[in-house]
Amino acid sequence: MSFLKLERVKKVYNKTIEAVKRFDLEIERGEFVVFLGPSGCGKSTIMRMIAGLETVTEGDILLNGKSIIHLEPKDRGISMIFQSYAVWPHMTVYGNVAYPLKLRKKTKEEVEEIVNEAAVICDIDQYLKRYPNQLSGGQRQRVAVARAIAVKPELFLMDEPLSNLDAKLRVSMRTDLKRIHQDLKSTSIFVTHDQSEALSLADRIVVMNHGYIEQIGTPNEIYHESESMFVARFIGSPPSNFLDVKVELEDNKVFLVHSTFKYEINNKFVKTLKGKYIGKTIVLAVRPENFTIGNKGIIKTKATIVEPQGSHIVINANIGDVEVKIVSPILDILPNQEIMVGFTESIGLFDKDTEKRIK
Ligand SMILES: Nc1ncnc2c1ncn2[C@@H]1O[C@H](COP(=O)(O)OP(=O)(O)OP(=O)(O)O)[C@@H](O)[C@H]1O
Ligand SMILES: [Mg+2]
Repeated sequence: MSFLKLERVKKVYNKTIEAVKRFDLEIERGEFVVFLGPSGCGKSTIMRMIAGLETVTEGDILLNGKSIIHLEPKDRGISMIFQSYAVWPHMTVYGNVAYPLKLRKKTKEEVEEIVNEAAVICDIDQYLKRYPNQLSGGQRQRVAVARAIAVKPELFLMDEPLSNLDAKLRVSMRTDLKRIHQDLKSTSIFVTHDQSEALSLADRIVVMNHGYIEQIGTPNEIYHESESMFVARFIGSPPSNFLDVKVELEDNKVFLVHSTFKYEINNKFVKTLKGKYIGKTIVLAVRPENFTIGNKGIIKTKATIVEPQGSHIVINANIGDVEVKIVSPILDILPNQEIMVGFTESIGLFDKDTEKRIK
């Protein structure tokens, strides 16, 4: 039995706005699951339904095998933290973390022990006597995390908790959150529209689009075996490059033909391509780091813009009428320099009509 189960969950606001169309998901105890998707795809709506802040239009949500949709938020054993971290400004850090424990009628000694423990885990134990306005954004967010974990929730929901922080702090906070999760093994759902945050935190990522799930998988599956062009485009920075190519058969060999190159396919794709795609146009997807530069390349072009990133450079170049981005460890390529571009075996192929992965 899975720990949390969402069955055909649907949410319609005001009888007309279908925010979540159909959502099926099972989460195991201790998992860290990230919901990832563009603005408006229904991430917060799902979280709010799990927490009990929003009703479910259709479907069911089960925690430990029992339906929770008719329970009050406070009876669900769930802690939630939001984008605006909402720590109470008139209470000290100690007061903030202690408050939900007092509501749960813990004794003074119990409260003290739990607050101290949560404060150490979240690295705010030196600030317990301060007020939130005497803390940095990251410290304040750690107070919110401490308050949420202090009640030892069955399930810990975080809706874009890092989005108010500056870039550097976001990266260090996500390492903190990962460490806290590894220590406590609390089952967690984390919402973000930042693909790098999702990749770095998740045991599994749920990619959402327009109220549907596009793909569920580990970070590696989502990145290397994106099920759809939407996912391949959304994950990765820079994202996948797409080139339209025609599938041709010559002497029983399969080629991808583009106006600038011809590439023989001799791997697992051959069978499917022969069966269904000869003579058709499909989409070749290449991750920026899966392009190669050097004299073994098959496409002659030139670098237009070069963006140094320290450890690597991002080269912009045209292949036919498509501008691609190439991540290269060779750092001394200059704008307008002629380059020969190839790609590694790690390519993806997509059906042009359905935009789904060809396997
Ligand atoms: N209370 C509401 N009444 C009507 N429509 C709503 C309500 N809340 C959200 N919606 C709509 O439902 C859809 C999903 O909203 P939701 O807040 O779940 O998106 P989200 O994925 O969390 O987006 P973001 O990344 O911007 O936070 C949106 O189209 C939104 O306009
Ligand atoms: Mg949201």
